[in-house]
Amino acid sequence: MAKGPGALPMETLDCLSARVTATRFDPDRGIDQEDLRDLVRHACRAPSAFHQQHWRFVAVQDAEARAALGEAAHGDPRVAEAPLVLVALGDLRAYEDLAETLRPTVEKGELDRATADRWVRQAAKEYSQPQAARDEAQRSVSMAVMCLLLAARDKGLASACLTNLDVDALRAALAVSERYLPVALVALGHPLPGDTPRQKVRLGLGTVLHEGSAEALPG
Ligand SMILES: Cc1cc2nc3c(=O)[nH]c(=O)nc-3n(C[C@H](O)[C@H](O)[C@H](O)COP(=O)(O)O)c2cc1C
Repeated sequence: MAKGPGALPMETLDCLSARVTATRFDPDRGIDQEDLRDLVRHACRAPSAFHQQHWRFVAVQDAEARAALGEAAHGDPRVAEAPLVLVALGDLRAYEDLAETLRPTVEKGELDRATADRWVRQAAKEYSQPQAARDEAQRSVSMAVMCLLLAARDKGLASACLTNLDVDALRAALAVSERYLPVALVALGHPLPGDTPRQKVRLGLGTVLHEGSAEALPG
């Protein structure tokens, strides 16, 4: 994506305004394995609290498996049509493995050991509350999914993030244990020629931007 320090902001902003939720995918064009791996590498660039990196992705490419997964997405036809579906999961026990997760960063000298140790202690305390662990997993994985959607757009790929899921059916279809929270399903493929969905109109700044306090927001 980045072609140089000067180019990065422009290209990222272009991707933000050009990304759109796909309504169709070209059923005749697959995604090559290096692109798949590259998309996931970009998704992993997302930030996360205490650098827990809750995200895990299950790549579903087999046509039959996608058809079965489509059932878990309440029959959304895009799941069977897209050549690649990435199911984004959040690790509800990421905090338990945090020392190990942080080790390469500490060894590289990008994080001092004392800070890492403090993060491990703080995370253990904070996320022993199941709701807090779940909220954080949702946040982290959502950020990773956004990175994934932008990376896909940058590559000229079409994407659709879906969360209207039958979670039990999805768990059964992909053997997802209780440790992992299904957060979203991302259908990916090449755009169907001639199908050009446009990004929907956003709420205006008058509604979304507030200076200094939230008191003007309706209660
Ligand atoms: C977290 C999330 C969940 C979504 N779930 C669904 C879904 O289940 N079905 C669907 O058709 N679209 C889903 N979408 C797509 C949204 O409807 C879409 O992003 C929104 O209408 C704005 O359109 P745009 O992405 O084309 O700008 C989801 C998007 C997000 C970010």
